Amino acid sequence: MACSFKTMITLFVAVLFCFVGVITAQSSDLCPPEKLTFSEWEDWQQITRKPVKSAAHGNDWVRIFVNKLARNIYLKAGSLYPECAAIVKPIYAGPEGLHVKKLTIMVKMAAGFDENNGNWWYASSDPSGTRVVPKVRRSECIACHEQAVDTDYLFSEDVLEALKE
Ligand code: HEC
Repeated sequence: MACSFKTMITLFVAVLFCFVGVITAQSSDLCPPEKLTFSEWEDWQQITRKPVKSAAHGNDWVRIFVNKLARNIYLKAGSLYPECAAIVKPIYAGPEGLHVKKLTIMVKMAAGFDENNGNWWYASSDPSGTRVVPKVRRSECIACHEQAVDTDYLFSEDVLEALKE
């Protein structure tokens, strides 16, 4: 009897650990894509002093804004951004950067999201940052952004270089 009681306790503890494991795994998903909005993007750190011309994104004029988690790494053209690091790139109608046409967005997801491509989530949005449309075919974005694999798929090095001009 004593032995089976011990077995039961062991089983109970094992099941408990399993539950704790599942719960922590879920809560590590800190920024679920379906809930992401970017209404505060204009308060984020702006990397660009002035709009820069983007040959890659339709020859439009762009600025780059980063949230707190992305700021220091981007400014150093570093690598391996933490989960929920986000970059918003507004695209403007002209070189003065007055009228925002739309936003392009990248957010770092948890490990396992897209392990072969740096776990980045790609999206676009209206200028307010609230009507967010995830890129279903993000392979198009990745096909080009993978050139910047050394800086974790972001073109931080090129952008910082362009600002010196
Ligand atoms: C042909 C190459 C190319 C494609 C395709 C491309 N990008 Fe980019 N992207 C760039 C370059 C180069 C930059 C650096 C800034 C610039 O020149 O616009 C950039 C910058 C960005 C940035 C700012 C972060 C950074 O890397 O500095 C975001 C966000 C972004 N792209 C999102 C997207 C999304 C979303 C897609 C897919 C719809 C996409 N890009 C497709 C080349 C590309």
